[in-house]
Amino acid sequence: MSNIKRVAILGSTGSIGRQAIDVALENKDRFSISALSTNKNIKLLGEQAALTRPQYIAIADEQAYRSYVEGPGAGCVMDIRTGIDGIVSLCGDQDTDIVLNALVGSVGLMPTIAALKNKKRLCLSNKESLVVGGDLVTRLVEEGNPIIPVDSEHNAIFQCLHGHDKKEIKKIVITASGGPFRRRTKKDLKNVTKQQALSHPRWEMGPKITIDSATLMNKGLEVIEAHYLFGVPYEDIEVVVHPQSTVHSMVEFLDGSIIAHLGPTDMRMPIQFALTYPERIPSMVPGLDMQACEDLTFEPVDTDTFECLAYCYEAGIAGKTYPAVLNAANEEAVAAFLDERIGFLDIPSIIRHVMDAHKPVEVSGVDVLEETQRSARRYAGELISKIRSVRA
Ligand SMILES: NC(=O)c1ccc[n+]([C@@H]2O[C@H](COP(=O)([O-])OP(=O)(O)OC[C@H]3O[C@@H](n4cnc5c(N)ncnc54)[C@H](OP(=O)(O)O)[C@@H]3O)[C@@H](O)[C@H]2O)c1
Repeated sequence: MSNIKRVAILGSTGSIGRQAIDVALENKDRFSISALSTNKNIKLLGEQAALTRPQYIAIADEQAYRSYVEGPGAGCVMDIRTGIDGIVSLCGDQDTDIVLNALVGSVGLMPTIAALKNKKRLCLSNKESLVVGGDLVTRLVEEGNPIIPVDSEHNAIFQCLHGHDKKEIKKIVITASGGPFRRRTKKDLKNVTKQQALSHPRWEMGPKITIDSATLMNKGLEVIEAHYLFGVPYEDIEVVVHPQSTVHSMVEFLDGSIIAHLGPTDMRMPIQFALTYPERIPSMVPGLDMQACEDLTFEPVDTDTFECLAYCYEAGIAGKTYPAVLNAANEEAVAAFLDERIGFLDIPSIIRHVMDAHKPVEVSGVDVLEETQRSARRYAGELISKIRSVRA
């Protein structure tokens, strides 16, 4: 039997997906690519398919799918699928050993569930699947394979915890760069532009996570993600601002010892570790130059200005359908901000209103989550239209 692991990269045209292809191609003796997927970017998907020769591709958007199969994909030997069902089906193919979920948003939930049900190794970058469906996903993890986190903070914590029992954890400390608006006041944030919000000081990422980093929603989503991945209560998860982003996160143990993970700000490193775990192999990423790390500073996070982080703790602690509602409201608000339909500070305001209006229920299954998210999105949409009509 071949030792080459076959990887399905969901969201291959995105920031993480593209870097995952780089890692796989750099390690052809270990990995081949069985499947790729995109939402609409068929041009890049076609180039990636020509380069990596997967057996399957999925194009979520139906119009993009038609353009592809009637155009560049006509007559090709690959099995081409469409819709979210097409992406989900990639998680069950016999030709796949590892699913790397690099989709953005709650659309990643069903593929996460499918990969776990099909007992694939799940390398998870899509944090929204754990935020929305943490209870359901955790149950599947308990039954079978663990999730290998790709998110740099969680990948770091996963490494710090290696060889330790969960019972030894005193707290998890997640580091935050502080984003482009660190030390700004609410007044300063009133008129910030999309371009300013998209200028992250440390990481190059897709647009949604970059805006989430500017509001600190990303850190809040990571707190919920850490709660589910590591089974640690919210009161034992702390966020600290570390502007250099050299320490990717830390674990404090019962005896007061803190184990931290340091590394360069390059996602190819955690992607590779997730794919090769538990083995470590040389990386294409240049290591950290400790001589150049003059300052490693830490400061408290300002949740009065960056309320989204506080809302995430609130939703996480309240549980039930609250995290799904928080996430749905955020996805709608961020999309509206990226379309320049609302201002930066409208993002937390919309989330607050949607959460306040929500009547939570237990997450008994995916149907409950879908209905909850639909109604949260509807209400967020109404609020966005209202903001626009007041400002017109
Ligand atoms: N980027 C990072 O450095 C980083 C770091 C840590 C964690 N993460 C997490 O990793 C995930 C991916 O982030 P990213 O920055 O790589 O995002 P991204 O650059 O926006 O890429 C997202 C990928 O998902 C596809 N996609 C978007 N909407 C879809 C839909 N409705 N149905 C199916 N596919 C869809 C996109 O296709 P198109 O190309 O057609 O849009 C693209 O391939 C997020 O959960 C993020 O929080 C990212």
